Amino acid sequence: MFTPYQIRSIEQYQLDYAQSVEKPEEFWGNIAEHFVWRKKWDPVLNWNFKEPNIEWFPGAKLNITENCLDRHLPALGDQPALVFEPNDPKDDHRVLTYKELHFKVMQFANVLKNNGIKKGDRVCLYMGMVPELAIAVLACARIGAVHSVIFGGFSAQSIADRIQDAQACAVITQDGALRGNKIIPLKSVVDDALMACPTVQRVIVATHARVPVSMLKGRDCWWEDEIKKVETQGNPFCPAEEMDAEDLLFILYTSGSTGKPKGVVHTCGGYMVWANYTFVNVFQYQRGWTHFCTADIGWITGHTYILYGPLSAGATSLMFEGIPTWPDAGRFWDIVEKHHVELFYTAPTAIRSLMAFGDAPLTGKKLNSLKVLGTVGEPINQEAWHWYDDRIGANQCPIVDTWWQTETGGILISNLAGVTPSKPTFATYPLPGVQPVLVDENGVELEGNNVSGNLCIKFPWPGILRTTYGDHERCRQTYFSTYDNLYFTGDGCLRDEEGRYRITGRVDDVLNVSGHRIGTAEVENAINRHAGVVESAVVGYPHPIKGQGIYAYVIFNGMHEDEELTRQDIHQTVARIIGSIAKPDKIQFVEGLPKTRSGKIMRRILRKIAEGELENLGDTSTLLDPSVVADIQQGRLV
Ligand code: WT7
Repeated sequence: MFTPYQIRSIEQYQLDYAQSVEKPEEFWGNIAEHFVWRKKWDPVLNWNFKEPNIEWFPGAKLNITENCLDRHLPALGDQPALVFEPNDPKDDHRVLTYKELHFKVMQFANVLKNNGIKKGDRVCLYMGMVPELAIAVLACARIGAVHSVIFGGFSAQSIADRIQDAQACAVITQDGALRGNKIIPLKSVVDDALMACPTVQRVIVATHARVPVSMLKGRDCWWEDEIKKVETQGNPFCPAEEMDAEDLLFILYTSGSTGKPKGVVHTCGGYMVWANYTFVNVFQYQRGWTHFCTADIGWITGHTYILYGPLSAGATSLMFEGIPTWPDAGRFWDIVEKHHVELFYTAPTAIRSLMAFGDAPLTGKKLNSLKVLGTVGEPINQEAWHWYDDRIGANQCPIVDTWWQTETGGILISNLAGVTPSKPTFATYPLPGVQPVLVDENGVELEGNNVSGNLCIKFPWPGILRTTYGDHERCRQTYFSTYDNLYFTGDGCLRDEEGRYRITGRVDDVLNVSGHRIGTAEVENAINRHAGVVESAVVGYPHPIKGQGIYAYVIFNGMHEDEELTRQDIHQTVARIIGSIAKPDKIQFVEGLPKTRSGKIMRRILRKIAEGELENLGDTSTLLDPSVVADIQQGRLV
């Protein structure tokens, strides 16, 4: 069974696309009719990219949880909404039906209220991939609190920065998270963060890993105790707060080319429509299917394609707590077989790392429940694409290569599974509502096919970011000021002879390491905090598994006991300031950095050296001291 607005043929794709461009308001107004609103919009859209000011469905009232939960109860109440597969395959999995999830979300929403949390308050969530995270996110949405989920791999310092930026009043966490054979002491990391966060009045801690935690009187409370209090209060019901379509739904921090992560803001109405529309169309979801998105809810992929997209469509969404390689590299495939997964969505980096284990982990695994495969987060290479197609999909499953960003809320460019053709390594065509343009450095639009340039979008789609939290000017600067009247993605892109798009990677100083977005400036700032470091420059280089690796050139002035130890010290520093995900793969100690006379580091040269390109370094005549280049080349790490 399909959803009424699902595109089922190429012809329909072309018609819908044309209509979405010619009459966007009519088009999205019609799609929006399929959701539950307390009050309808007028008009459908107000926008300008100058300020920017973007409002989808202004004046409309809704609550996204009524669309994700309540409206499914009559027909799907006993269907599984969430399937939780724990880290350890020896532990039992858990299923929450739509009825059960609805109940638990209301219960925890009442917990939030009991703890003084109200509409508009910012709540920070620092958790592992457990059902309580999904429940907490939806409970925030239920009462209109703004959730800010922080990926469990970030350090205390990163949490503190994000909490302070959002002025969050509460944190929801758990004692510890299980990842493979490791326990991550989440509560203890939160405790360190909160030493610098006076706005936080309440910390709610779910028990999971059962590691010891220190609970502060007056501030910290246990999830389970709070639930008991709600139970004794006797009223399990929690009405959904009425939200304006443009009220904030969540903040999600992401890296840019400056040192400071920014809080991307998504709002209730447009984001909901976009998450749902892209989910059902790109994956061609059919009623009853189980969707396994391997992302963490700490990233946008988890927000949109574990929670809001699938749940608003009434799908069964699988949440996996563990890692792909523990207890062995067949873990994903065991899960697919065990839960009869139809839709499987992962990152190229995961495919490449599993590919490296060869065929053994696949032997005997029944993967024939799979109907559609997807990739996201970074460009996929030919080899990984074909392995995925052959070994996982048995050449029977369309692969969707979905290009999008934290800022776009959901997928913008992708083939539609089995409906529009795929082309390996190409995201192919834009979804209805998405109007891509390629421009050169001067902002001149490159028309026609067979061109490449910087990827921009010239018209708003419902899921576009609205602002960066607390700093609208930064939003304008970053996305809307590079080119007049265009949203600039930061990606380079080519359009082939048939108008299909291939995203080639970031053109700004943002790295994509294992599908995680990291700013070079952020890593540099962290390295520079180390007492012995004078200066550093960070660039990306091609990495066979991670996509990009982090290469750091460091001028060190402290006493080296030995270089390896200093490298480890720098690793510790980066892990402490940002988190383990930002540790450089290579650290080369240098005497100087290639700088122009005005003092600007010429990263182009450093990038080439890191990539192993030792000859054609391009024009070095503007360098203050060209001799440093030869030294750096000499010391290059392989
Ligand atoms: C950046 C956004 C989208 C959710 C996960 C990452 C890169 C994303 C693709 C793709 C090539 C891709 C882009 C983009 N990217 N998807 N299918 N092909 N590149 O979200 O952390 O906001 O990163 O990821 O460079 O700008 P994010």
